[in-house]
Amino acid sequence: MAKEIQTIGVLTSGGDAPGMNAAIRAVVRQAIVKGKNVKGIKRGYAGLLQEEIIDMHANDVSDTIQRGGTILQTARCKEFTTAEGQQLGAEICRKHGIDGVIVIGGDGSFKGAQKLAGLGINTIGIPGTIDLDIACTEYTIGFDTAVNTAMEAIDKVRDTSTSHERCSIIEVMGRGAGYIALWCGIANGAEDILLPEKYNYDEQVLVNNIIANRKKGKKHHIVINAEGIGHSASMAKRIEAATGVETRATILGHMQRGGSPTCKDRVYASTMGAYAVDLLCQGKSNRVVGYRDGEFVDFDIDEALGMQKNISEYQFEICRNLSL
Ligand code: ADP
Ligand code: F6P
Repeated sequence: MAKEIQTIGVLTSGGDAPGMNAAIRAVVRQAIVKGKNVKGIKRGYAGLLQEEIIDMHANDVSDTIQRGGTILQTARCKEFTTAEGQQLGAEICRKHGIDGVIVIGGDGSFKGAQKLAGLGINTIGIPGTIDLDIACTEYTIGFDTAVNTAMEAIDKVRDTSTSHERCSIIEVMGRGAGYIALWCGIANGAEDILLPEKYNYDEQVLVNNIIANRKKGKKHHIVINAEGIGHSASMAKRIEAATGVETRATILGHMQRGGSPTCKDRVYASTMGAYAVDLLCQGKSNRVVGYRDGEFVDFDIDEALGMQKNISEYQFEICRNLSL
């Protein structure tokens, strides 16, 4: 029978996301309730390889549930993508008595967790990214806060866009995925949304739509452009030249990753943190926590990494219809 877990390590990896602190807090406190020790690994896999490992007690996570960012810091670490780096990481875990690691991050971070599991360290992944681009789950930590932050910012741009009767191209984050753009498109009533999953780079369609809306008497034209398409500034220049409508580009950038997490992010991140500890206590490894059909669930990491997820065709279609 597998040895019972005694000490749980927790790290955050890749881009930070609001709600990561709520997840860390839940890991620490649920583990303590279950009689386990907890060690915080700072700066993701980079900190693991540098042995930046600290003991964590219940009061170390006091006053953190409402804070954005990650109290453990985060990083990207090239060395950990090598077999030598992974071997060293597993040895460092053993040296510090860490027999289970909870990795809060995205797909890249889960690949690291998968490698650690293969080297005998029990690992559980928790989906933490504002991009919502993890196929096995309908929820990722930080998306709700980020999309609300972006929505509020876009409302503000819309006010000035309407006053000046302009077209505004607003670029939102999401790396290669268009979820933030789609949600803002619907929530902000955007006239056009450009998603990497859908856009065919035919700018004439956009130009025609702007001209048609102007004729209908629309005072603004909001285009939400996903980061995966980018080039908003040059696009604005071309659109202004082709339509005669004054056009400005706004890139929302990293403000979307900060701020106090929403209630949903706090509650779901807390639940996932506790759930991950429970999985380790049940002797599970190489699993990732997810949220599907109203339930918190878990999947084998190999299976989860092989899954595909698509933008909702229906929501994409109605986004345009509703901004008539
Ligand atoms: P995310 O976790 O948000 O997808 P990244 O793709 O930047 O972010 O990955 C975060 C970190 O996870 C990387 O810097 C690296 O340390 C680790 N990682 C990514 N891919 C692998 C891999 N194939 N094998 C091992 N570790 C990986
Ligand atoms: O994955 C989260 C994210 O904010 C993406 O939306 C974006 O492409 C990327 O991280 C930006 O990373 P960095 O902070 O390194 O600029």
